[in-house]
Amino acid sequence: MQIAIIGAGNIGQAIAGGFIRNKAVEPEKLIVSDVCEASLAAIQKIDSNITTTKNNKEAAAKASMLILAVKPWLVQAVLFDIAKEISDDKIIVSCAAGIDFDFLSHTIDKQIALFRVMPNTAISIGESMTLIASQDTSKAQDDFVVSLFSKLGKALLISDNLMGAATSVASCGIAYALRYLRASTVGAVELGFTPETASLLVAQTMKGAAALMLTNQTHPEIEIDKVTTPGGWTIKGLNEMEAHGFSNAVIKGLKANRNS
Ligand SMILES: NC(=O)c1ccc[n+]([C@@H]2O[C@H](COP(=O)([O-])OP(=O)(O)OC[C@H]3O[C@@H](n4cnc5c(N)ncnc54)[C@H](OP(=O)(O)O)[C@@H]3O)[C@@H](O)[C@H]2O)c1
Repeated sequence: MQIAIIGAGNIGQAIAGGFIRNKAVEPEKLIVSDVCEASLAAIQKIDSNITTTKNNKEAAAKASMLILAVKPWLVQAVLFDIAKEISDDKIIVSCAAGIDFDFLSHTIDKQIALFRVMPNTAISIGESMTLIASQDTSKAQDDFVVSLFSKLGKALLISDNLMGAATSVASCGIAYALRYLRASTVGAVELGFTPETASLLVAQTMKGAAALMLTNQTHPEIEIDKVTTPGGWTIKGLNEMEAHGFSNAVIKGLKANRNS
């Protein structure tokens, strides 16, 4: 299948790079369009056999699957521009945050297989948590898109009404996790570590915590119980954090930005 990526910025480049590095898509089967010369040059650096163009219509005409990776406010203009190239058998995959299926189908004005895909920035290193919703698709198309994005980390098909929540938890969630890491790093510096050592301690500890959850398939509290000796140091630290509103702050933050 020929795949077009329209928009070769952060997400477009990360998707193209992930597809090629993981041999999910042959470079000859990928066509990438962007208005920006520098972005297309970055795509050529990934693999010179990828076709690049400044013409979205050309990319849309050649591909069976079109991945929209432009900013949300440009989606409508791009879809209008390529409207004549969107035949009924094509698959549209939108990465644009907050752009729902109603908006996409009204803009395209025909019944066609549609996907909303919400990756996070760890897609650039093949560690994304990508949430996917579909409309007017077959099971085979769902499986294909999930398996494609599974090459770039983990991918899960969810109901469309959870996409706003998914954006908060998994896409913005990268920033929330990093804010914890920042707090922990500056705390470690106050405790006497250099910033470099503090960053290593904190990042590897977070990676270990996530790996415990993923490997053991446990709820975090189960893993927390293993560290909290009754009357010990860990529970004192946890209770002090909670007294300052730690869990409440995280939950309030997650709920504050749900957008669709
Ligand atoms: N970044 C994230 O963490 C993240 C996560 C999940 C989803 N998303 C979604 O992914 C989409 C892309 O985000 P991004 O961070 O990759 O944005 P980005 O870095 O700004 O990339 C968008 C690219 O599209 C180009 N472009 C602008 N107008 C265009 C047009 N008419 N035709 C073709 N290309 C055009 C831009 O060029 P110029 O720079 O010259 O305008 C830029 O190279 C957004 O809709 C966003 O909501 C992003």
